[in-house]
Amino acid sequence: MRIAIIGSGGREHSICQKIYESKNVEKIFCIPGNGGTYKIANNIEIKLNDFDKIKSFLITEKIDLTIVGPEEPLVNGIVDYLSQNDLKVFGPDKFCSRLEGSKIFTKKICEIENIPTAKFKIFSDQTKCLKYLESCNFPIVVKADGLAAGKGVYICENLSDSENAVREVFNGKFGKAREILIEEFLTGEEMSFFILYDNETFKVFNTAQDHKRVFEGDKGKNTGGMGAYCPSRLSTSKLEKKIIDKIIKPTLNFLKRKKGKYIGFLYAGLMIKNEEPFLIEYNVRMGDPECQTILPLLQNDFVDVVKNCVDGNLANIELSWKKGKSICIVLTSKGYPEKFEKNVLINNLENLKINNQQFIFHAGTKFNDNKFYSNGGRVLNFVSIDENLEIARDDSINLIKKLNWKNGHHRNDIGYRVIGKK
Ligand code: AMP
Ligand code: GLY
Repeated sequence: MRIAIIGSGGREHSICQKIYESKNVEKIFCIPGNGGTYKIANNIEIKLNDFDKIKSFLITEKIDLTIVGPEEPLVNGIVDYLSQNDLKVFGPDKFCSRLEGSKIFTKKICEIENIPTAKFKIFSDQTKCLKYLESCNFPIVVKADGLAAGKGVYICENLSDSENAVREVFNGKFGKAREILIEEFLTGEEMSFFILYDNETFKVFNTAQDHKRVFEGDKGKNTGGMGAYCPSRLSTSKLEKKIIDKIIKPTLNFLKRKKGKYIGFLYAGLMIKNEEPFLIEYNVRMGDPECQTILPLLQNDFVDVVKNCVDGNLANIELSWKKGKSICIVLTSKGYPEKFEKNVLINNLENLKINNQQFIFHAGTKFNDNKFYSNGGRVLNFVSIDENLEIARDDSINLIKKLNWKNGHHRNDIGYRVIGKK
């Protein structure tokens, strides 16, 4: 098969690698890809909002299957657009993608379907919202409704922080805000829960826990993700049943009733408290860096899985997973998620020796004149698999030490809730 992957992050490189390992693949294109995908696929420079150009490319190249990695094109309706042009696409339609594109849409589904989630209120009037805050107990969570690259969520410790957050959102920091969401602050432990869905049948696609804060001990600013491990330590069959019955099934039933078409991964961000799951948010794609830690554990031929999913035959697939545990440590540019330098040479990368239980997935890199350069905040993902998570973590850290990239920053404590700090 001829396969295209849309996106340029670590998630897309890990998808590309899995496809590269398939027996059913003839040629792979990445739009636009990164320095890592350059080595195993054909990178094609097209802007992700240029649906027309993407469509023309896929038709000219006779692409059999297109996998959409990131949320933005999904929320903007790329799947509807390409499907109307008779292209096979792995990803949910525009209606279903509102699960991620509008936090308020998801909250309303929770209300209708009685899905456990943080208590909330929606305001369209700034003055009324500010007045309401005066009656709240803190901390409280203020959220912009739309996509905000992970930045539209404010955990507010006091009244004045929450007032500032509400003003920022209504002043248009994340685009025009018609409505705002104020949420109860949930305590507990977070878990990322994934399913694969062909609009009829779903399969649980493993669990993970990511670490979003930039510094060790979960301190500092929120990032796109500094590392993750799989499976989540919270994962039990009893909890999985509750998540499916109370959260996943009611959501899928709602989408079905509304005639949405959901093909692809669905990622539930959950808070687990006293073994009870609460939905924090939905993402309509794989997580990043969760994807990089989960996919290497999959034993199936990934092309086979995706093709069956797109064709509505997921019921025919039995997913099987390697026995070990997996960890992904992200190497970022120093200064990320604030100011950082780009275009810094990464020496030595191709000299690193890795075994067949290890992967180095690129994110913000590019390949120029036979050399790798940094090209973003999150630069590389070091993934190791082992029966023992602590050994896996040591393996990834040792690789980062060997690389010895002077512009790099990483956390040594990924997975600390299971294996302690280093
Ligand atoms: P989101 O962009 O919705 O994933 O939110 C980013 C992060 O904010 C989540 O991963 C949680 O750590 C935190 N968060 C969001 N909503 C809540 C909530 N209601 N209570 C506690 N933490 C939250
Ligand atoms: N790991 C968080 C995300 O992909 O949104």
